[in-house]
Amino acid sequence: MSVAPVVSEETGALGANRFGYQKFALGSFSFERDEYFAHIAWSHGTHTMDVGDFLRALMRDVAWGFFYGYVHFDSVFGTCNHYGTVDVFAGTYNSNYKRAGVDELQNHPTDRVGATFVAMIEDWTNEGFDPFAAPMETGSPYGPNRGSNLEAVRRARSTATRCVGLDGDAPLRTDGSGYPVNRAFADVDQSEPEVHAEPGFEDRVHAFNLFAYLSRSDVTWNPSFTSVVKHSFMCPTTEEHILPIVHGNDRVEWFFQLSDEIHWDISTRDTAEPRSRVIMKPGDMAAMPADCRHQGFAPKRAMLLVWENGSPKIVDEISSGQAPVNPVDF
Ligand code: PHB
Ligand code: FE
Repeated sequence: MSVAPVVSEETGALGANRFGYQKFALGSFSFERDEYFAHIAWSHGTHTMDVGDFLRALMRDVAWGFFYGYVHFDSVFGTCNHYGTVDVFAGTYNSNYKRAGVDELQNHPTDRVGATFVAMIEDWTNEGFDPFAAPMETGSPYGPNRGSNLEAVRRARSTATRCVGLDGDAPLRTDGSGYPVNRAFADVDQSEPEVHAEPGFEDRVHAFNLFAYLSRSDVTWNPSFTSVVKHSFMCPTTEEHILPIVHGNDRVEWFFQLSDEIHWDISTRDTAEPRSRVIMKPGDMAAMPADCRHQGFAPKRAMLLVWENGSPKIVDEISSGQAPVNPVDF
């Protein structure tokens, strides 16, 4: 048996298969897609995922730079961010795979994993399929290679240069003029707040209607950084269908339910035993402890505010006991 040569050292691309999709190698892992599935193989195991689910998860991992802690694509495959390097694993945080001895974990420089994942999302996403969109608002991920959707998969965050709404904040438009109100938020009040600044402070005070802004979001499960104060990040987002990843925390994060309803499954972080179900309704707040994993389900498009602690020291502070695993003790 001969092994296909690596075509690209940078991305690990191995050449196209008979469906027109590139195969990829990343350390001892290999990745291949066909019409319906993503197939992952490692030295002593294989795993199959629905390719739509795989691409939605891959899109988040790429766009979020591997996020905080763990991004589980499902109960088997995922990544863990060590902020400079990334673990790529299969079965490591699944007690049954672990017990059976078929688990695998490899650590690579972030750039190496990023190059493979970017090349994979660009090659495997077909024209008409947007992995950031709600399933009812985009085309099919399935079938043989049918063009690409680089505009969607290369979507970058718009960054404000000043507080949003003030002169020179470009290119953000809080009036949302570039985007239509989503069908699920047709009832959201679009009026802007009145601001009565003291003379001389007109260019320093501003307010905008966050609900109107979010009602025009064209993506799902993709928090934006709407306010950043030191390491306190307010990240509102609109959610519909299933959070495409199971997030394993390396720090505490808070959820504020701004509208509608999200159901959360919460499990232990390292072994995946079910821990609780949380049904969040408008006005509810919840804190996800630093040792859990969680996945949300939104039956109708909902607005959620995720509050993140962006401190680069927090992981060490939690492991050394200086910062708590549970934010509140009752
Ligand atoms: C989370 O894992 O906490 C998370 C990720 C994306 C979202 C919402 C929550 O849109
Ligand atoms: Fe999370």
